[in-house]
Amino acid sequence: MNDTPQRILLGVSGGIAAYKAADLVRRLRERGAQVRVVLTENAERFVTALTFQALSGEPVRTSLWDSAAEASMGHIELARWAQRVLIAPASADLIARLAQGQADDLLTTLCLATEAPLFLAPAMNRVMWEHAAVQANLDTLVARGATVLGPDEGGQACGETGAGRMWEPAAIAAAALAPAPDPAAAAVLAGRNLLLTAGPTVEDLDPVRYLGNRSSGRMGYAIAAEAQRLGMRVTLVSGPVNLPAPAGVERIAVRSAEQMREAVTGRVSGADLFIATAAVADFRPRQASRDKIKKRGDGGLVLELVQNPDILAEVAARQERPFVVGFAAETCDVERYALDKLERKRLDLIAANRVGEEGTGFDADANALTVLWPGGRQEIGRADKAQVARELLSLIAQRLQARP
Ligand code: C5P
Repeated sequence: MNDTPQRILLGVSGGIAAYKAADLVRRLRERGAQVRVVLTENAERFVTALTFQALSGEPVRTSLWDSAAEASMGHIELARWAQRVLIAPASADLIARLAQGQADDLLTTLCLATEAPLFLAPAMNRVMWEHAAVQANLDTLVARGATVLGPDEGGQACGETGAGRMWEPAAIAAAALAPAPDPAAAAVLAGRNLLLTAGPTVEDLDPVRYLGNRSSGRMGYAIAAEAQRLGMRVTLVSGPVNLPAPAGVERIAVRSAEQMREAVTGRVSGADLFIATAAVADFRPRQASRDKIKKRGDGGLVLELVQNPDILAEVAARQERPFVVGFAAETCDVERYALDKLERKRLDLIAANRVGEEGTGFDADANALTVLWPGGRQEIGRADKAQVARELLSLIAQRLQARP
């Protein structure tokens, strides 16, 4: 069965990122999708219908009041035709109108008239993105089932740097064409509470230096986003990363292992599932220096380190415990070390990956996992982290259900 949607209605709203939507049409078509484009009136100030007609190979609609277009495929037919509605860029104004349920132009009317799932790729200035009104409108849309893709952090067309940059077209295309959530996994996990750690921890040496590691947080964030899509209530305890919180996910920002432990300990009693993806520093300086450490004449410096608490092992040792999933990132003998961790930390399941190889593991878009549990194992083949997250959550749902 091919469960990848083929017919995509792409709505483009008015923002400078509209120029990237032209490339998005190509990325969607490369993946086998048929794309029909609707431009809002403001989008037409940035891009032309002709561009999108040439790239999509389909007529482009810009108005509800175009009698010739309505005579060929009326807006209700177009709404029925779509298997998914993707809006990229989604401006603050469009998000507000959708949250209000307005039908004051063709695109908003189509969004009300369709039963297809809605995907939004927001793009706006960082201050607008952080505005409580925008966030509240998005929460409303997410609660109604919309999926929010991005935005990224980084340089913006307005010259500022921060969250609000539209995701790259290839990433939007991959997410918008991703298979629908696994119904068997959703049946087990929807409504349950997931507590998740992600990212690195950093341990301060002095006010300007720290011990850290190369974890990007992307695997954990992908799991958080996919779990949210499955209907879980997700709390993400995250070390410092360059990723915005996935929509609909509560993020608790921490810095050190001790802060991460405190955030987890305070929340674990309500969790049904705990997944530790964070690359927690094993050691921290015995004492962070109050002042910047100075160079000395002899050139050397000995740091005294003490061991950090093992957050995962502590959760697994609780009497009333959630289903506990750990990660093992190793450079060699992956499976042996992972099995040892599964038993020693008394985990329900462990996901092991090899790091240090180009293209997978830390700081990479793709990953591959060997998943182990007492008495069983399964490989998750190399794929983008969203796909790996989906397969892992399906497997966790199966194991959770099989648990006595
Ligand atoms: O023992 P190791 O650090 O390799 O174990 C990795 C797993 O344990 C990961 O799931 C990681 O998030 C978790 N961990 C933790 N607290 C630590 C060290 C690791 O939760 N202090």
